[in-house]
Amino acid sequence: MQYTFSILTLFLANASAEFLLPTPPGRYNVTFTTGSLVDYTRNDTNAATPVPRAVMLSVFQPATCASTVSVPYMPNKTAEYQGPFLQALFNISADLTPIFTEARLPVCPNDSGSGGCSPVNDYPILLFSPGYIIPRLYYSVIASAIASEGFVVITIDHPGDANIITYPDGHTVYGNGPISPTPEEYTQLVYPRVADASFIIEQLSNATAIAEVLPRRGPIPFQTDHVAMLGHSLGGVTAVIAASQDPRICAAINWDGTFYGTLPPTGLSQPVLYMSEVNVTDPAWLAAWPQMKGPKLWVDVANTSHQSFSDVLTLFEAAGQDTAPLADLLGTIASAEIVRILVAYTAAWMNGAFAGKVGGPLLGGQEPDRFPEVSKVMKGNF
Ligand SMILES: *[C@@H]1O[C@H](CO)[C@@H](O)[C@H](O)[C@H]1NC(C)=O
Ligand SMILES: *[C@@H]1O[C@H](CO)[C@@H](O)[C@H](O)[C@H]1NC(C)=O
Ligand SMILES: *[C@@H]1O[C@H](CO)[C@@H](O)[C@H](O)[C@H]1NC(C)=O
Ligand SMILES: *[C@@H]1O[C@H](CO)[C@@H](O)[C@H](O)[C@H]1NC(C)=O
Ligand SMILES: *[C@@H]1O[C@H](CO)[C@@H](O)[C@H](O)[C@H]1NC(C)=O
Ligand SMILES: *[C@@H]1O[C@H](CO)[C@@H](O)[C@H](O)[C@H]1NC(C)=O
Ligand SMILES: *[C@@H]1O[C@H](CO)[C@@H](O)[C@H](O)[C@H]1NC(C)=O
Ligand SMILES: *[C@@H]1O[C@H](CO)[C@@H](O)[C@H](O)[C@H]1NC(C)=O
Repeated sequence: MQYTFSILTLFLANASAEFLLPTPPGRYNVTFTTGSLVDYTRNDTNAATPVPRAVMLSVFQPATCASTVSVPYMPNKTAEYQGPFLQALFNISADLTPIFTEARLPVCPNDSGSGGCSPVNDYPILLFSPGYIIPRLYYSVIASAIASEGFVVITIDHPGDANIITYPDGHTVYGNGPISPTPEEYTQLVYPRVADASFIIEQLSNATAIAEVLPRRGPIPFQTDHVAMLGHSLGGVTAVIAASQDPRICAAINWDGTFYGTLPPTGLSQPVLYMSEVNVTDPAWLAAWPQMKGPKLWVDVANTSHQSFSDVLTLFEAAGQDTAPLADLLGTIASAEIVRILVAYTAAWMNGAFAGKVGGPLLGGQEPDRFPEVSKVMKGNF
């Protein structure tokens, strides 16, 4: 991952105009709810005074609603932090803040009275873990696109790791990890994330907790026999390691995450999909490959970069920005195309895993014309 590049000319022409992100492409629209779950068995080691660890979540549920409303992509406090943060991280001279403050997500209204909107309950649940430092909110477009195919998608902020988390009461927790972690530091960062995943799965059965996060659903626990996990970068690695430790996780998908941490000597049996940039021959991933004993597939996606596996391309394009000057950072693939690819492979992988039969024409490579950017690197056990 190479983040340094020279000064760029970005024209944020409509800097103060709201812009709407794409409507989810699938057969449902989605509801969007945010809330936190508190783990009283673990203190947050990042906090100055120990407090129970509070993971912040966004929940995207498939719903039938004929009309959507637009809601802020991020709370103001989070959005205003992102511009200066990324400008410093990537050495960009333009003011990026409006991209985050002005973006609007089209979602079903919360009020069940309007538009006959009702979530369709009890679809399989997909936990989503973001890249290191990156707030969960950078994946809301992709998460809603996946949810629109019939999954409950829950994106997670890991405290101390996400650069900023704004909680429902308005208080914030800032990330305090290193800007460029060493491999050892990345490895240490994985395990609190893995514990967060198991904690969330446990709380899905907690009627009180669910009623607090999803007031409209009320005290109805989720069934946890259809849960899987995916993520981007360190979040993708988190998904794989979490699956190896928690048998309730039925499958894992890693979007472009170098491997950190270790798998148990017996390996893991759940299906694992790895989607990467082109020509990434990550030795750590190759070393872990034989430990994946279930169905496994590694594909790469042409014209992507590490950042293409997030909402960032969509945000720039929806804001009317030319992404060409940022090609090194963002990739050159069209935002709608990378979303289609990520949604199609994720849905096919997860549906196959939940049905106990990973396969089908897309994953088997029998539809080469559907996504010409995608090529098989390695495949096993299906
Ligand atoms: C940031 O960009 C400027 C302008 O191109 C350049 O002079 C400077 O060296 C860059 N800084 C870093 C840390 O790359
Ligand atoms: C619904 O509630 C969530 C908080 O759970 C909020 O973030 C979102 O903006 C609300 N949506 C609408 C359409 O008001
Ligand atoms: C968290 O910290 C508080 C205050 O120091 C302490 O009383 C409590 O036992 C700690 N809880 C856990 C689970 O470590
Ligand atoms: C989703 O909402 C849009 C309006 O924003 C509407 O045009 C579309 O038909 C809805 N899709 C579904 C599947 O209900
Ligand atoms: C966020 O900031 C905008 C622009 O300053 C303001 O109009 C809006 O009311 C703020 N939203 C909230 C929830 O405070
Ligand atoms: C269930 O959730 C409630 C509300 O968040 C919490 O107070 C309680 O400790 C949870 N119960 C268990 C067993 O985790
Ligand atoms: C990837 O590697 C192959 C074989 O070395 C090479 O032909 C191809 O141009 C490379 N593609 C990219 C995008 O670097
Ligand atoms: C990658 O982008 C280039 C330039 O836009 C294009 O010519 C090429 O067909 C793309 N590759 C794939 C596999 O789509």
